[in-house]
Amino acid sequence: MKSVGRREFLGGALLGGAALLTTGVRAQVARQADARVEVLIDEPIGTISPDLYGHFAEHLGGVIYDGIWVGENSNIPNIGGIRAALVENMRRIKAPVIRWPGGCFADSYNWHDGVGPRSQRPRRTNFWVDAPEWRNAPDGPWKYDPNQFGTNEFARFCKLSGAQPYFAANLRSLPAKDTYEWVEYCNSPAGSTSLAELRAAGNEREPFNVRFWGIGNEAWGCGGNFTPEEYAMEFRRFIAWIPSYGVKLALIGSGPNGGDLGWTRRFFTKLVEKGSGQLGSLYGWGLHNYSWNLSKGESDDWFQAKGDGLNFGVEEWYELFRQGDTMEPLINSHWQAMGEIDRQHRVKLIVDEWGAWYRPGTETHPSHLLGQASTLRDALLSGLTLDTFNRHADKVIMANVAQLINCLHSLFIAHEDKFIVTPTFHVFDMYSAHQGGRSVRTVFSAPTVTYTRAGKPASFWGLAGSASIHDKELVLTAVNPHASEAKDTEIVVQGGTIQSALARTLTSSDIHAHNTFDNPRGLEPKDVEAGLKGPTLVFRFPPASVTRLQISLG
Ligand code: AHR
Repeated sequence: MKSVGRREFLGGALLGGAALLTTGVRAQVARQADARVEVLIDEPIGTISPDLYGHFAEHLGGVIYDGIWVGENSNIPNIGGIRAALVENMRRIKAPVIRWPGGCFADSYNWHDGVGPRSQRPRRTNFWVDAPEWRNAPDGPWKYDPNQFGTNEFARFCKLSGAQPYFAANLRSLPAKDTYEWVEYCNSPAGSTSLAELRAAGNEREPFNVRFWGIGNEAWGCGGNFTPEEYAMEFRRFIAWIPSYGVKLALIGSGPNGGDLGWTRRFFTKLVEKGSGQLGSLYGWGLHNYSWNLSKGESDDWFQAKGDGLNFGVEEWYELFRQGDTMEPLINSHWQAMGEIDRQHRVKLIVDEWGAWYRPGTETHPSHLLGQASTLRDALLSGLTLDTFNRHADKVIMANVAQLINCLHSLFIAHEDKFIVTPTFHVFDMYSAHQGGRSVRTVFSAPTVTYTRAGKPASFWGLAGSASIHDKELVLTAVNPHASEAKDTEIVVQGGTIQSALARTLTSSDIHAHNTFDNPRGLEPKDVEAGLKGPTLVFRFPPASVTRLQISLG
């Protein structure tokens, strides 16, 4: 990706939407376009794992209770207690995988509490009960968890949604034996063990065949406060001889917080002390990176410094993107650090928590701890992050946006019988077209955006995106971060011929645009059709937009 200064020859406005141009008018296009995208279809990066479009649901605030689980006797339309509208929309975006039950909660969770007859399950204090972010939250299932949503309910939610389950096992507060037993409960064949019978008593006779198992969460913090060496030893102990029940288990290590390369290097160094064969036991290395939105003076007290989900100016608009854009160097630097020990790169990256994290104040209900409103700004952060994952499809095999509903960077907001999708949902919907495609190299050239950051001049790239090939179709997605300027862009496919194109764009003249219970369709993407034939596609990327182009190639 490359940025250039604004072309002096920028001419008059181009056509609105997209148009395909014949060779005869190409020279005119060159004079008028102020950005260019080259798609190099003969330069493949790797297959885009559908799991890059994964999700995360923790027993935190309103995610499970009020969000996913409404109960079988609820008047809210549900499927065995699970919110029906949520399931329907998860299917629509082809949700591939859901991580559960945390997060920090995972290392306090005893899975035994969430199985067996629901009426007999214990109520337990939730990990988040003392969180300083709660503001006037009443007591309820979010503070004292009734365990109505346990393993069977989660597995059913995944199945209904068409997604794979990804369990985060408790490493901090339970022995390894409980992880083994959880695997046995989920995966042992029907009738084979007492735990398989317990599963069957909950109407799930057949094994869940759960493949993805995280060994703890944030082991450097809430997951045990370990050093990387201590965690590596615990990791080896936890995974040693886990019975597989014929399932190829994909074990995931608790990786770094953002740019902590020491955590990565020291873990890998300790892991292979028992031989490099240990690398074969690690499917993925979990990286967590939130966009904290620290623009106001970069105070240490992030809680005070951050703006909220709705009240922000142009500076905070760009600041969020600047922070989200750190994902790319993080992927590259951890990949390199892993490669120092794992020379063949057997272990891939899994970004199992990412998203925007604002200060409280825009949550829908006081019980929605870490709940926040989601605007067009979050849609652009989603687009630029998903594009980053696509561009690194050779390194990243799964990512899980945090979190699914009623929380940070959510796709959905629900309270009782009210339910809406957020702008982030629309981006996941548009970008689902990339799933399973062959990511190919792109070169974006556009004038940089300039703005004022903490009183000083700052700049940010002017247009970025990613592309994937699916037989004869090219999917190109792009983000124009400029708050007020469109980008007239010439799009060239090297190694292919453009036959036709369809465009879909999410944008608004108001950078704060979002959906509410009263106005659920306030912000939605719109289709623009482009039907002309020719070698060059010209598209006007509107200001503050996320766009998907579906291009038929000859
Ligand atoms: O997503 C909220 C929290 O952020 C998770 O529980 C934890 O893993 C991370 O610090």
